[in-house]
Amino acid sequence: MRPLKLSWTAQALIALAGLLVLLIVIFTFERPPVRTAQVGYRGVAMEQLQNPRTARLIVARNQVPEALPAADPPTDDADKASAVYENVQVLGDLSNAQFLRLMQSMTEWVVPAAVREAGNGCNYCHNPENLASDEVYTKGVTRRMLQMTRTINADWSNHVAQTGVTCYTCHRGQAVPANVWANNAPNRAGLVGPHALGQNLATPQINYSSLPFDPFTPFLLNDQDIRNLSTTWHPGQNQDDVRISEWTYALMIHMSQGLGVNCTFCHNSRAFGSWEQSPPQRLTAWHGIRMARAINTDYITPLTPVFQANRLGHPENPNPLRVGPNGDPLKVNCATCHQGVNRPLLGAPMLREHPELNMVSRAPLRTSEAMPVNGATRN
Ligand code: HEC
Ligand code: HEC
Ligand code: HEC
Ligand code: HEC
Repeated sequence: MRPLKLSWTAQALIALAGLLVLLIVIFTFERPPVRTAQVGYRGVAMEQLQNPRTARLIVARNQVPEALPAADPPTDDADKASAVYENVQVLGDLSNAQFLRLMQSMTEWVVPAAVREAGNGCNYCHNPENLASDEVYTKGVTRRMLQMTRTINADWSNHVAQTGVTCYTCHRGQAVPANVWANNAPNRAGLVGPHALGQNLATPQINYSSLPFDPFTPFLLNDQDIRNLSTTWHPGQNQDDVRISEWTYALMIHMSQGLGVNCTFCHNSRAFGSWEQSPPQRLTAWHGIRMARAINTDYITPLTPVFQANRLGHPENPNPLRVGPNGDPLKVNCATCHQGVNRPLLGAPMLREHPELNMVSRAPLRTSEAMPVNGATRN
């Protein structure tokens, strides 16, 4: 038999194909070891994947700065911040010591390192000549943020438990949290072409899929139902259901990515809608969706005029713009707090060291919406 002779072109093509396969393997597969941990009953394939290599990075990325020594509550009315200072509207019940400790902690949590290290930390929110003045916009924003943080801790313990949150949970030493969202629809009248129906715009929030690029406006701002089970059987009436289904999957991809988990962290995939077959984490997530919605509608959206007036940000810290391409402020989703782990900051007990952020809620108490009993039996 004669040895097979290939032309140069054929050899080059084979080499190219080999290279392509190699590149695909390198860039689409994760380098082992990959471990699985079972989270549901045997045989239902409810498991979570973990790679010790990335797990180490995650631990390093989620360290909490050391808390300042605790401060005593007020001894009498004269010791309260409301009596000591001129213009205290939110933190009046704290003792002077608690008040100044919180000012220092907030400086560490939200003022960018460069500004802090130049010795101007307090000035990020204050006119140093007159600390009572409200002329720097970040001070007004901070009053709302304080009320918001207290509301999360006091009214949403069905999500944040006793772990709670501080400014650091979202901010991590930056003035604008790393993971935020805004209305990202291309700013054109009567959307046509590839972005019609709000799809086919690769964005990281939906893992670059072709699903709708903004599942947040319907679900984390408006209270659109989250489901893919049709509620009507006539196909002609189902246009909306398809859209809601696609939004639902886009949101679910965000939730999985934001928490660094698989779908089976919250679902038995044989029946995504069934609450009976879902692990308890799904219920926590259900409350989380309502909480994110409340944060966005009750606290961030009312700040729209402030962020629009200061869209270029603080003079010492101009990036990023404080509003999205359509002029709305930067809002919260699951990744804002979670940043890729199922418990923000790996479950570090934020409230234990900062009881000042778990005091009375200043916002109206919210009653939780009626709980869905079983997603599969809605009429
Ligand atoms: C992230 C914004 C922010 C930073 C940073 C900050 N503050 Fe404040 N500060 C505020 C807000 C908001 C108030 C008003 C609180 C209220 O109304 O309950 C305030 C009020 C005060 C007051 C009371 C002034 C008065 O007479 O009414 C003092 C004193 C003060 N801060 C000191 C400091 C010091 C010292 C630092 C730096 C260690 C600092 N602050 C950093 C936001 C900030
Ligand atoms: C649930 C997440 C979350 C928590 C908790 C939170 N913030 Fe924010 N904060 C945001 C988001 C989102 C923005 C960006 C809004 C924008 O730029 O449109 C923001 C913006 C700000 C800004 C404006 C910064 C600038 O340079 O324009 C300040 C100041 C601020 N937060 C202070 C605080 C303080 C102080 C706390 C704690 C008492 C706190 N935040 C807690 C989400 C949060
Ligand atoms: C962190 C928990 C969590 C993760 C992870 C998660 N889901 Fe969900 N899922 C929920 C919750 C909670 C609901 C119900 C939301 C509601 O009713 O407000 C839901 C609803 C759904 C529904 C709608 C069911 C119905 O009643 O019609 C589908 C489909 C679904 N998820 C699929 C997925 C897929 C696919 C993934 C992985 C890409 C995923 N989910 C990841 C928590 C989760
Ligand atoms: C304001 C910050 C914040 C936001 C926003 C947030 N979470 Fe959480 N979440 C927490 C905290 C804090 C915990 C830890 C509670 C605990 O220790 O039990 C938590 C816990 C959870 C858990 C339980 C994890 C476990 O291992 O048991 C799930 C599931 C979850 N969140 C889903 C979500 C989803 C889905 C969203 C977005 C719709 C979301 N969260 C938005 C702060 C937040």
